[in-house]
Amino acid sequence: MMINVTAPVPSPAKKDKKLHIMTWGCQMNVYDSAKMADLLSPLGFGLSDDAEGADLVILNTCHIREKASEKIFSELGRLHKQQKEANAAGPKMIGVAGCVAQAEGEQILARAPYVDMVFGPQTYHRLPEMVAKAMRAKGGQIGGGVIDTDFPAESKFDHLPAQTAGQGPSAFLSVQEGCDKFCTFCVVPYTRGAEYSRPVNAILAEAQRLIDSGAKEISLLGQNVNAYHGIADDGSTWGLGQLIAAVATLNVERIRYTTSHPRDMDDALIAAHRDIPQLMPFMHLPVQSGSNIMLEAMNRKHTRDDYMRIIEKTRAASPDIAFSSDFIVGFPNESDKDFESTLQLIRDVNFAQAYSFKYSERPGTPAANMAGQIPEDVKTARLAALQELLFAQQRSFNEGFIGQTIPVLFDRHGKLDGQLLGRTPHMQSLYVQNGKDMFGQTAHVKIEKVTTNSLEGVIV
Ligand code: 5AD
Ligand code: SF4
Repeated sequence: MMINVTAPVPSPAKKDKKLHIMTWGCQMNVYDSAKMADLLSPLGFGLSDDAEGADLVILNTCHIREKASEKIFSELGRLHKQQKEANAAGPKMIGVAGCVAQAEGEQILARAPYVDMVFGPQTYHRLPEMVAKAMRAKGGQIGGGVIDTDFPAESKFDHLPAQTAGQGPSAFLSVQEGCDKFCTFCVVPYTRGAEYSRPVNAILAEAQRLIDSGAKEISLLGQNVNAYHGIADDGSTWGLGQLIAAVATLNVERIRYTTSHPRDMDDALIAAHRDIPQLMPFMHLPVQSGSNIMLEAMNRKHTRDDYMRIIEKTRAASPDIAFSSDFIVGFPNESDKDFESTLQLIRDVNFAQAYSFKYSERPGTPAANMAGQIPEDVKTARLAALQELLFAQQRSFNEGFIGQTIPVLFDRHGKLDGQLLGRTPHMQSLYVQNGKDMFGQTAHVKIEKVTTNSLEGVIV
């Protein structure tokens, strides 16, 4: 998935340089891209929707699966071709950020020597310095790019600017970063570093700024967001449940959080779903597999029963809640029986939506070296069967809303006049045709039609 970060609320400083950021992967990357734009704004960079004629194009990359990484090199090739064309439509400078930069910094410069900067997710606070350095190198025609993939002793959060460009009605707020869990298939602990939680007051101050700049909904982000354990002013350590309760005291209509790990679910977070009206009835809780043998081999450190207990407890606290998950098919040594256990878990939970992937070998992770890799055609067949079941559940979840009237926060414009897109409390994507002047507002919508991926209705 690629998202173009578009221009936020302009700030008064003169922007004589054009910056374009392409963002792949998770919401953490979307958040980081917004931060990069903030950081470069004092240097005169203004965000632009297209790469043509840009002074700087940054590719904020994702390394989680092979396909995600491959795209970077084809995109770089395309940009370089534009650079070489006579009409000067190509970007003057190219930077590669994110997890591919972290994991493959040297290889990127070897394969694409025209890249000016390569910098990992923990280095964004040094971006102005890097850009200045790269511009000097460019002026002096010095070859070779600037590379920065260090993990600083302190978190980058301590150095990021306070100002956050307006993100619109629905805003992301990063509260936790990194991962120490080392699932055997995953690169995140290597590219994003150890778990770190931001202090409570920094988060609440940022939440207030987002609200002041128009946010109605705040999504608290973290690679393991429910592992949050931030320090409050009185020296105590807060969990995510407590943090959500504090954010709820601000003038915010909706609160969400993602992504959670089953191992970090606690009673306070489950209780928050019962007690905090702004907390949306939706939980993204990746399980990856329904087979205990696979869960063990993946180093998930929870069983299928642990997962089912969390689902039951959360449903008891908040009967209306909808669940989403991530699944991997074709992990090394996955048997037909293991795969069937995953299908059975899906039938037992009944998901409102989910993401599912074929296992992708990531260099440097333990699973990449395991014997028993699954042939591609088996992975393909399993993914198709899994998705058939998940899509059927998603569709019937959506169908259950036909005729109902539900509150929707409209946070995106559609192509046609009056067309608006938004999210339901359960995170479904919804659009209306009669949304004139309702952007950024919550309205009650009567659902008329549904598909697997979206709902359509009219504002009543
Ligand atoms: N292969 C396939 N899927 C993966 N994910 C993480 N690493 C891999 C991999 N090597 C998936 C997991 C995770 C989601 C963000 O990406 O399901 O929850
Ligand atoms: Fe990757 Fe596992 Fe950490 Fe999630 S919990 S980021 S899947 S290592």
